[in-house]
Amino acid sequence: MLGFQPPAIGDEEIAEVTETLRSGWLTSGPRAAELERRMAEFLEVEHVLALASGTAALHLSLVALGVGPDDEVVTSPITWPATANVIVHTGATPVFVDVRDDDLNIDPELAAAAVTERTKAILPVDLAGQPADLDPLLALGPPVIEDAAHAAESRYRGRKVGAIADATCFSMYATKNIAAGEGGLIATNRADVAQAVQDLRQMRRGDGSVYDIPVPGYKANLSDVLAAIALCQLDKVDRHREIRLRQFALYDEAVAELDGITPLARDERDVHALHLYIVRIDPERAGATRDEYQSALRGENISTSIHFLPVHRLTWYRERLRDQPRLPVAERAGDEILSLPLSPAHSDEDIADVVAALRRVHERFAA
Ligand SMILES: Cc1ncc(COP(=O)(O)O)c(C=O)c1O
Repeated sequence: MLGFQPPAIGDEEIAEVTETLRSGWLTSGPRAAELERRMAEFLEVEHVLALASGTAALHLSLVALGVGPDDEVVTSPITWPATANVIVHTGATPVFVDVRDDDLNIDPELAAAAVTERTKAILPVDLAGQPADLDPLLALGPPVIEDAAHAAESRYRGRKVGAIADATCFSMYATKNIAAGEGGLIATNRADVAQAVQDLRQMRRGDGSVYDIPVPGYKANLSDVLAAIALCQLDKVDRHREIRLRQFALYDEAVAELDGITPLARDERDVHALHLYIVRIDPERAGATRDEYQSALRGENISTSIHFLPVHRLTWYRERLRDQPRLPVAERAGDEILSLPLSPAHSDEDIADVVAALRRVHERFAA
């Protein structure tokens, strides 16, 4: 079976983890601090805080910006459920807004229409590595917390994702462009947000036995063992990007010839992080549904995935947000999207195998 997104771990990561274990630092220490310093340089931003997960980064950003009960947060339904779940954890209500048909990122005009006096934050998602359209979202007034879990290398209109929103949240989950296994980062140019997150991620302020509790903390700091992996991945980010670029080019060339199979749009004015290669399968033209394509590809020993099922259709949200308006673009896309294998651990031959399998399946269905 060809894996969907196998990790690209080499001898460097293994050596650095061993070195870290020998150093005696199991919890946050010099490597977590170095990761923050180097990521701030990479993201061209003032502050970076390392955290236990991307979910924690989103959650603590919301708390740091004062989001709580009775507030609303405007967000995208095409995302990993973490984005919405953390809004719920603060006691606020997620307000899902439909996405644009071409890139499946939040539609800024619909976001504007959803803002009320209760809106405490806007939470766009940079799906697959394509930045959301941030300028019109920032112009709406409430702070913007950007879910950049997929967008570690992205630029929006020339500016690095990470240096634009009030808080930008990255994930270092096993499949991400800069992977630690588990881990997250918050990037911000706001000193007040950085200070608040600093307090929230620990259990106390101070060192050793002299400490205080400025705020009840969440204990969401990053271990040095994981920071060591992330530092190696950061060293390889350009090399890995070269591989992703080739894989994207191979897929672009192949799907251009397959009627009814179309990749999500990538805005040429931006830098795309190439995190996921997502296609839409139009059942009319492609001759079968996304689910049929996915299971046929499985039959060809190719693993694929879905990014993402619309969150508002999942049980907890469906049952509680009964007066949620229909989100037709997201709902249709949710039935049509399929993510193809993509990883620096894959060879060009692996991607050629995927392409050959996809062609065979298309030939069978579209005939
Ligand atoms: C869009 C998006 N947001 C948030 C997260 C949460 O990150 P983590 O798994 O590091 O908690 C993920 C993925 O894992 C994601 O894909």
